[in-house]
Amino acid sequence: MELYKIRKIRTSIVKLRALFLVKIAKRLRTLDSKDAFEVTVSHNLKGLYHCNDRIKLLIDPLSCIEKLDKNSKILIIGPRNEHDLYLLASQGFPMKNILGLDLISYSSKIKLGDMHQIPFEENAFDAIIFGWTLSYSATPKKAIQEIIRVVKPGGLVAIGVEYTSMTKEDSEALIGYSIQEHELLEKRINSTQQIIDLFENQAGHIYFNHDAPMKRSHSAKSIVKNVSNVAVILEVKK
Ligand SMILES: C[S@@+](CC[C@H](N)C(=O)[O-])C[C@H]1O[C@@H](n2cnc3c(N)ncnc32)[C@H](O)[C@@H]1O
Repeated sequence: MELYKIRKIRTSIVKLRALFLVKIAKRLRTLDSKDAFEVTVSHNLKGLYHCNDRIKLLIDPLSCIEKLDKNSKILIIGPRNEHDLYLLASQGFPMKNILGLDLISYSSKIKLGDMHQIPFEENAFDAIIFGWTLSYSATPKKAIQEIIRVVKPGGLVAIGVEYTSMTKEDSEALIGYSIQEHELLEKRINSTQQIIDLFENQAGHIYFNHDAPMKRSHSAKSIVKNVSNVAVILEVKK
């Protein structure tokens, strides 16, 4: 598990396993969700082998909270591939207690399923990590209700989204299409307070509140290095 901290080793394992399981074992499966934006699966398949370290913004502070230990059961929603799982394991959480959930899966460690209808019973997890996935939901409130259902009372939820000041037209100019169908959303989730508000009176103690302090956003013209991120870790009251 210590070796997974080394990026070259970690990403090599993830990519080799993904290549084998997708190309040779033919294990790739996808699922549609009526609550997800239309391009969700096709857009994310393009980055299937991409290993992004941004989830550390959630995993590093989460792993310091003494409510969790190596027996904690942790669900990662929207990992896309196994990279988020290996990063969490590098912090001392055994792989056997970590599970992913995604509309895309090639791995037995990632259950194929929809975050708006999570295929687990209530109070099943000590913590849920939900990184850079909420923005694919046309009904974020429904996804949060499901998360509240499957996390244990007093359990932890860690949520991250990219900060953006881009409009639909800016996204179309930059990548040719917009991931979000803006007409379906009241407002894009872009701040820690908006995330906390989704939990209503079930938001307990806030352990981590990182409200994109630098406010760096991609624009119609360019992808910025070090884009800002919004991240919250909170306890769920039940
Ligand atoms: C941008 S990736 C995030 C990957 C990784 N967590 C990271 O932070 O880099 C978003 C992932 O969420 C998944 N996703 C989107 N909508 C979902 C849904 N309704 N249920 C489950 N997974 C979903 C996508 O398939 C994709 O794998």
